[in-house]
Amino acid sequence: MKPFKIRNIEINPPLILSPMAGVTDYTFRRLIKNRGGVGLVVSEFISVEGLTRHNPKSKRQMRFDESERPFAVQIFGGQPERMAMGAEMAEEVGADILDVNCGCPAPKVVKHGGGSGLLRDLPRLEIILKEIKKSISIPLTLKMRIGFSDSTINAIETAKMAEQCGVEHIQVHGRTKEQGYKGLANWEVIKAVKEAVSVPVSGNGDITSLEYGFKKWQESGVDGVLIGRGAMQNPWIFRQFQDVIEGREPYQPDIEEKKAVLLEFFGYLQEEMPEIVALGKMKQLAGQFTKGLVGGAQFRQTLYHSHSAQEILDNIGIYFNTLATGNRYGDGLIEAETPAIESCDAFSVEDLNTCEVASGI
Ligand SMILES: Cc1cc2nc3c(=O)[nH]c(=O)nc-3n(C[C@H](O)[C@H](O)[C@H](O)COP(=O)(O)O)c2cc1C
Repeated sequence: MKPFKIRNIEINPPLILSPMAGVTDYTFRRLIKNRGGVGLVVSEFISVEGLTRHNPKSKRQMRFDESERPFAVQIFGGQPERMAMGAEMAEEVGADILDVNCGCPAPKVVKHGGGSGLLRDLPRLEIILKEIKKSISIPLTLKMRIGFSDSTINAIETAKMAEQCGVEHIQVHGRTKEQGYKGLANWEVIKAVKEAVSVPVSGNGDITSLEYGFKKWQESGVDGVLIGRGAMQNPWIFRQFQDVIEGREPYQPDIEEKKAVLLEFFGYLQEEMPEIVALGKMKQLAGQFTKGLVGGAQFRQTLYHSHSAQEILDNIGIYFNTLATGNRYGDGLIEAETPAIESCDAFSVEDLNTCEVASGI
């Protein structure tokens, strides 16, 4: 578990914040970066239809802070020329790495040949990768699922082809498109991809604990790992991995710090967006973040029913102060299951809708 390089860019530690539409925007990435331990952050996936038609939202999604470097922009689409133009725009805004989405299972994306739709049209993917290579000088990377369906797992073939096209890092989410988010990620296939190509390979799927993460990392022999949903439940997860890699006890935040992180996040949201949107995003993160906290289910309900920033702040204060003083909150129980947050279906469809109107598709 050593740092690895994507061309001359060192990924150190070899831990990547997995791109999540509607989640890994500027505010969330900032929150995670501040906790430490993350070696690479990636934008949400960005529609090249939106980008190349100058949709302001798509352009805004490429915004990043210098402190985030190395920073990758992920794009999606099915049209080679548009993908190449979108890639060029990402390089122009200063991204360090250009990543192509080859995994999103959302019907709206797949229907137009993008995301995991590319896994059943490798000739098209090949053209896209070659066109992008011609138009950018920053490294090109790929994030893919292992295949479209159980009967068409083609991760090795895809990875080899991508390597031939000049892709310099392959990230594999060990599920098929048809699997969606069901079952567990197949790390055997991730391992097979690692063994089949010589560019660095990172593995992804279901890492929410150090124990599981190190086990899958070691068994598969990958160069790095990506963590998505686990970072929403535990923003310190990267730092904890880094601690163990460097021989320290994993950092354990106390209740005060957990409260401070939610407030920090809310502060970023309020700087960036209208209050109504900030409230929605806060509820989304809080839903995941309360996993493992006493009375988390009831706390979440109070947040869901908060209609203003002040109400949210008051409720956060009451909840964490109750926990800090050892008093019982709600039913006093820790939930076995937290609400699932799944897929790029959860992304803001607004962007795509706008693109569809603009392109007439
Ligand atoms: C809400 C949500 C949005 C996602 N959006 C993207 C995306 O924009 N691009 C992408 O490559 N993967 C996306 N994914 C997939 C994740 O990056 C990751 O591959 C998947 O969640 C498995 O990793 P995990 O178990 O660590 O979450 C998304 C996942 C979720 C839950």
